[in-house]
Amino acid sequence: DGKSTTSITVVGASGDLAKKKIFPALFALYYEDCLPEHFTIFGYARSKMTDAELRNMVSKTLTCRIDKRENCGEKMEQFLQRCFYHSGQYDSLENFAELDEILKEHEAGRVSNRLFYLSIPPNIFVNAVKCASLSASASAGWTRVIVEKPFGRDSESSAALTKSLKQYLDEDQIFRIDHYLGKELVENLSVLRFSNLIFEPLWSRQYIRNVQLIFSEDFGTEGRGGYFDHYGIMRDIMQNHLLQILALFAMETPVSLDAEDIRNEKVKVLRSMRPIRVDDVIIGQYKNNARWDGVPFLMKAGKALHDKRAEIRVQFRHVPGNLYNRNSGTDLDLATNELVIRVQPDEAIYLKINNKVPGLGMRLDRSNLNLLYKARYSKEIPDAYERLLLDAVEGERRLFIRSDELDAAWALFTPVLKDLEEKKKIPEYYPYGSRGPVGAHYLAARYNVKWGDLGVDE
Ligand code: BG6
Repeated sequence: DGKSTTSITVVGASGDLAKKKIFPALFALYYEDCLPEHFTIFGYARSKMTDAELRNMVSKTLTCRIDKRENCGEKMEQFLQRCFYHSGQYDSLENFAELDEILKEHEAGRVSNRLFYLSIPPNIFVNAVKCASLSASASAGWTRVIVEKPFGRDSESSAALTKSLKQYLDEDQIFRIDHYLGKELVENLSVLRFSNLIFEPLWSRQYIRNVQLIFSEDFGTEGRGGYFDHYGIMRDIMQNHLLQILALFAMETPVSLDAEDIRNEKVKVLRSMRPIRVDDVIIGQYKNNARWDGVPFLMKAGKALHDKRAEIRVQFRHVPGNLYNRNSGTDLDLATNELVIRVQPDEAIYLKINNKVPGLGMRLDRSNLNLLYKARYSKEIPDAYERLLLDAVEGERRLFIRSDELDAAWALFTPVLKDLEEKKKIPEYYPYGSRGPVGAHYLAARYNVKWGDLGVDE
C-alpha cells in the first residue's frame, strides 16, 4: 500500500548474476509497474563505488523489450535514480548496520519491507545472512532473503546449510531460487496438464513409454571452471533444474494452486523415487508410485554440446495392433506419438502425430501440431528472474524450493554422487560441440529408449 516501502538489496551487486539478471529483471518489473509504489534498490558489495558509479554500471545492463520501446530511456533514468550503493564486507555486522542506517533514511519512517538478494559465493552465504538478519532486518515490515544455489553439495552439507540459515531466518523468510521454475513453459506445464482434458488421462504408465528431460548448452564452463570442478553437471543442472521440472511433470493433482499444496505434491513425488544408482547414472526410475511404475525418466544435461536447448519429451506407447504397422515393415517409431515441451530457445509445445501423405497411395508421415509461442504471441516472454523477484516481493512461495523439497532432491542424488567420487569413475570424454558421450545412447537402449533428439523436428 501507499504507506509502506520496500527496500531491495542486491548483495554481491558487482557480480555476474546481478549484472546479467537481477538488475535487468528489476528494471523490467519497474517498467511494467509491478514494483510497489515506494521502493529503493541497494547494491551492496566489497568494492568501493559511488551511487553514480553503480548507476553507470547498472545502466549498461538494462534493455527495453521490443514491444516496449516508448519512454524507455526516461523510465531507465527514473529507475536509476532509485538505485543506491553501499560498500561493505559480507561478514561485517558493522557494515550491515551502516546499510541499515542508510536504508532507514530512504524509508523515511514508512513501514518498511526488506528483501535481500544474496548473489554471492556459497562459502559466505551464512555470514551474510547472519549480518543482514541481525543488523539490517526490517523493524516493522517483513524481511525476506532470496538465496541462489548451490545449496550444499550433498544431503549432509545441504542440511547443515539449512540449519545455519534457520538460526537467523524462519523458513518462510527464505526464498530458495531455482530460476527454471520461473520460465514460462515450466509455469505452463501445470496449465497444460490440469486444464486440458486430453492430456491428464494419458499422463501415466498406461500411455507413456518414457519421459526425457534434456538440457544442453553449446558453450562450455566459461570461466566457471573452478566451481564446475567442484560441483559438476549433475549438481549444477540435474539435482535442481531438471528434477524440479520432473516433479512438476510427474506430481499428482494438487488440492489447490496454493504454494504449500503444490510443494506438498512435489515432495511426495520426489520421495517416491528411488535414489539413482551408479550404473544408471542418468536414469531415475519410480519405485512405488503407481502412476509411473516402470516408466523410465531420462535426464540428460551437458555443456559444450552441439546445440542449446532445454525441453521435456514425452514418448507415448505404441498403438496396440496398429493397422498401419501390419505388413508394412516400417520403423515402429513412426506410429508413436510424442509431446515436446520446449522450454528454450523458441518456446513451443508440439505434438507429433501420424498422418497420411496426401496422394493416391497409402504412405504415413509424421507431422507436428505446433504451438510456437513467437508465432502465437507477439509479446516478449519475461525473463524467469522477473517472475521470481516479483513473487518474492509479493510473498508468493509457489515457485521457491521448500527445505523438505531440497532434502528430497538431495536424497536422490547424494548416493550416486558419492559413489561416483569414491569409485573415481572416469567420465567419457567428448569433443567440444559434439553430441556428447555415446554412452548415453547405450544407456537409453538398455531401457528400450531412443533419445528423441535426432534432429528430425521441424
Ligand atoms: C545455471 C547453471 O543454474 O543455469 C549454469 O549454474 C547454466 O551452468 C544456467 O548455464 C542455464 O540457465 P539458462 O536460463 O541460461 O538456461
